[in-house]
Amino acid sequence: MQRKVTKAIFPVAGMGTRFLPATKSIPKEIMTLVDRPLVQYAIDEARAAGITDFLFVTARGKSALADYFDRARDLETALKEKGKTKLLEELEETNMQSGTIAYIRQDQALGLGHAVWCARRFIHDEPFAVMLPDDIIHAERPCLKQMVEAYADTGGNMVAAMNVPEDATGAYGILDSDEARTGTSVKVRGMVEKPKAGTAPSTLAVIGRYILSPDVMGHLERQKAGVGGEIQLTDAIAREVEEKDNVHGYCFEGTRFDCGTKIGFLEATIAFGLERPEFRDDLSAFVKKTAEGL
Ligand code: UTP
Repeated sequence: MQRKVTKAIFPVAGMGTRFLPATKSIPKEIMTLVDRPLVQYAIDEARAAGITDFLFVTARGKSALADYFDRARDLETALKEKGKTKLLEELEETNMQSGTIAYIRQDQALGLGHAVWCARRFIHDEPFAVMLPDDIIHAERPCLKQMVEAYADTGGNMVAAMNVPEDATGAYGILDSDEARTGTSVKVRGMVEKPKAGTAPSTLAVIGRYILSPDVMGHLERQKAGVGGEIQLTDAIAREVEEKDNVHGYCFEGTRFDCGTKIGFLEATIAFGLERPEFRDDLSAFVKKTAEGL
């Protein structure tokens, strides 16, 4: 029987150079979409999928991220005294149960694969999720929940996948697989990280949600640096394809925003702002008016 996925790794030790100069002093994961930091969206998605243990792989300069998860008792007391019940409820919803969230440091930014490997003692021999908080997925059913449900049938390893334009394949890990319908999974024959122009096996790109077998940690242990001189998670998952033929791409329902880039973050801000009933009318009128004036 397939084991439940209860642990998630959040690798957040990257330097965030595409968001400089902001990331000189702010970890990109706590930059806010409307009023919630990116990392809160990822935590909410993980909780909705049944995750109960959370591990952040952080680095020097990221302490604001750990501070965010500290319970703000002074604020709670002040809101209670002022009778601001709704705000208090919103704040309390972000509280993590004691002992469920942990932090480990990646001492050198050697790549996503290395960051995941830093969490090996946390996962023991259980399947685990990996979530990249700068990939924000707007979906009716949270993306990781969709994957956990599909994974209950497939087992093995599962990566979230979406179609990208052909000229964008060089920026992603790309699956060698057949086309898949939204909301279904597809067997993966191979994976290649950031393929050179004209060599991509498909246009199905891997984005920042994974459910992985603990055996991936063993591959990462032996993994040499790949594209960009970094230890690539894609290469370790590709080993699972070669050795066990047990990797699936899951074509999630929803829209993904790459909030690690400035344009992705701007688009997400507008999309999430328009979704809020209290901002919808004013914001859409403003966006329309501003665009017309260009
Ligand atoms: P990115 O490729 O987005 O790199 O990493 P980055 O450093 O965050 O951002 P740029 O490219 O410099 O703008 C994908 C994910 O892997 C994590 C990042 O924090 C991000 O969540 N990562 C990357 C690590 O944790 N450690 C690494 O050594 C590299």
